[in-house]
Amino acid sequence: RTVYVNGDYLPEDQAKVSVFDRGFVMADGVYEVTSVLGGKLIDFGGHLARLKRSLEALQMRNPLSDDDYLAAHRRLVAENGVTDGMVYLQVTRGNPGDRDFAFPPEDTVPTVVMFTQNKPGLADNPAAKTGWKVITTEDLRWARRDIKTVQLLFPSLAKMEAKSKGADDAWLVEEGKVTEGTSNNAYIVKGGTIITRELSSDILHGITRAAVLRFAREAQMKVEERSFTVAEAQEADEAFITSASAFVMPVVSIDGAAIGDGTVGPVARRLREIYLEESV
Ligand code: PDD
Repeated sequence: RTVYVNGDYLPEDQAKVSVFDRGFVMADGVYEVTSVLGGKLIDFGGHLARLKRSLEALQMRNPLSDDDYLAAHRRLVAENGVTDGMVYLQVTRGNPGDRDFAFPPEDTVPTVVMFTQNKPGLADNPAAKTGWKVITTEDLRWARRDIKTVQLLFPSLAKMEAKSKGADDAWLVEEGKVTEGTSNNAYIVKGGTIITRELSSDILHGITRAAVLRFAREAQMKVEERSFTVAEAQEADEAFITSASAFVMPVVSIDGAAIGDGTVGPVARRLREIYLEESV
């Protein structure tokens, strides 16, 4: 596999980043994940826009132009023969030459890394037919979840808690209300209305979320952007999540309580179809 490091395209075993890199010692970096379906980048413009918001929020210099990012994504997809999969992009504050809490001088060059992951048949994920089981757990992340940082230890712990309980993912809960999944946005459906938490610094502003809500409104479905409790979710007709890697994934149980009849519901199924049709 060819990977990108600071302008170079290298075999993955020859790619190197300094041990002093702020991304490595301080999780001082941001990232994006863009899906590839049929060789085509999905929603790349949205991911690029969010990358720039994340960089700005952390006062980090943007080292590349939009065209540079796009060209690198396309080159990696082509060189690595990715038909279905994803491109991972990470920008860190670079190598200050030493460890220090203070930011390095302005002229420190950010580190840019990109690589691809092959996921043949990504859009036909059989899990979409049966749906995910989720557990809930207290949201112990920092308060700026709207910035897509590489500081992913808590979501990783929550994912492992879910797996240890035989579930597929965890929904994170703050003050009794669901914020989002470990790496996705969370939704319920009640009486035909799609309900998902409003945008704020409490959640990541999902690129898939924006697209799915737009398609839902275009299809005359009702959308309410507000928070909901775990109990309300357990009593909903349907539940689902969205992300660049899972698209629209139905959720069929929450903490062991079946949602609706415990099978994939019509709204989640339809939204997945629409998303895949419109995006590819
Ligand atoms: N995760 N919420 C969180 C906390 C996320 O990490 C993600 C994405 C989302 C969904 O955002 P989008 O629709 O733009 O992918 C919501 C990516 C896929 C990841 O970490 O792999």
